[in-house]
Amino acid sequence: MTPGARIAAAIEILDRITAGAPAEKVLVTWARRSRFAGARDRAAVRDLVFDVLRRRRSCAARGGGESGRALLIGLLRERGEDPAALFTGEGHAPPPLAACETTAGAPPEGAAALDIPDWMLPAFEDSLGNDMAAVCRILRERAPVWLRVNTARCTRDEAARLLADEGIATRPSDHVDTALQVTENERRTRNSRAYRQGLAELQDLHSQALCRDLPLAPGARVLDYCAGGGGKVLALAARQPRARYFAHDAAPRRMRDLPTRARRAGADIQLLSCGEASGRAPFDLVLCDVPCSGSGAWRRSPEGKWRLDRPELERLMRMQVQILEEAKILVSPGGVLAYATCSLLRAENEARIKAFLAANPGWVCHFRRRYSPLRGGDGFFLAQLGRKQTI
Ligand SMILES: C[S@@+](CC[C@H](N)C(=O)[O-])C[C@H]1O[C@@H](n2cnc3c(N)ncnc32)[C@H](O)[C@@H]1O
Repeated sequence: MTPGARIAAAIEILDRITAGAPAEKVLVTWARRSRFAGARDRAAVRDLVFDVLRRRRSCAARGGGESGRALLIGLLRERGEDPAALFTGEGHAPPPLAACETTAGAPPEGAAALDIPDWMLPAFEDSLGNDMAAVCRILRERAPVWLRVNTARCTRDEAARLLADEGIATRPSDHVDTALQVTENERRTRNSRAYRQGLAELQDLHSQALCRDLPLAPGARVLDYCAGGGGKVLALAARQPRARYFAHDAAPRRMRDLPTRARRAGADIQLLSCGEASGRAPFDLVLCDVPCSGSGAWRRSPEGKWRLDRPELERLMRMQVQILEEAKILVSPGGVLAYATCSLLRAENEARIKAFLAANPGWVCHFRRRYSPLRGGDGFFLAQLGRKQTI
């Protein structure tokens, strides 16, 4: 496909997404229908679509509208390129700019320039303080690709060498000792030997940091209460292979790939069905990686940024309260209840813990940390709670 034809495809896809269809679904459908598009074309079109979704408001401002066409015109202007060079009407390129499109558009201002919704601005200011603008700028960029080396099976240097043999260049993180950032040939990662043999998994840097910070003793019973795909419980099992691991999720189908991933990694993780966790309690560590706004990971899932509204945020926060209440009774007397989000918002993080402690005076917070997107990974929050010791 020519660069112009890729733009035309991205316009068509964005029109469907702005009409309400999920981006992944539209991209898959387009790829199936477009046999003429090779792997590079599909990757380039996908990048265009996600680049727009991350900066949807500034693209709309510069392009002078919300249509797929205006958004792409806006994206090219954001990049300092002249849209007329690609909107030629030749071959499969989109038709040339009309006079009104040439003059439409203006530089974005305020929350639009930061590419966050207006209603979110006060919460971001309150939660991020002086870092707010820098964090918003990072959320407008593509996320780096991070691998977690399965240190139960090999060292980080060995994994890096294996990847390099297949042309995948990496750089070790200087503050998380399981993490490698892929710097060349990211798209080859999933087919690499290191990945297929369970020596490396895709996992964000700060998701790895959060798992590093959880207490794990040999022989401990560990429950990942909101396991989803199981990224965190797999990281814990690699760090301390001599503990016992259990995974649970209110939507068990989300754990469907976990047995395969665990086998690949050589980890033993027992899946619990709904309602089974209480029969298996107590646990020394219960991790609640709760559903949240996802604001710390908006550069990976940029649709969430525009889909989230106040009622949905309130619904998520009610779930967070409920999950902590369900999970606290599963924790052994000296055990740890860990609360994690990939949210930047104080309401879902510090304020949630404060409210839990107010409602549960027998509990204390031993550890609390924010993982900032300014340090290479996504935004995460972790709190570790325990029962007060009685003498
Ligand atoms: C943020 S995701 C977990 C991601 C996962 N820990 C990982 O690292 O890949 C939150 C998960 O919580 C689950 N969930 C929602 N309500 C729940 C509840 N009441 N009890 C347990 N899990 C719940 C959702 O189905 C979802 O899979």
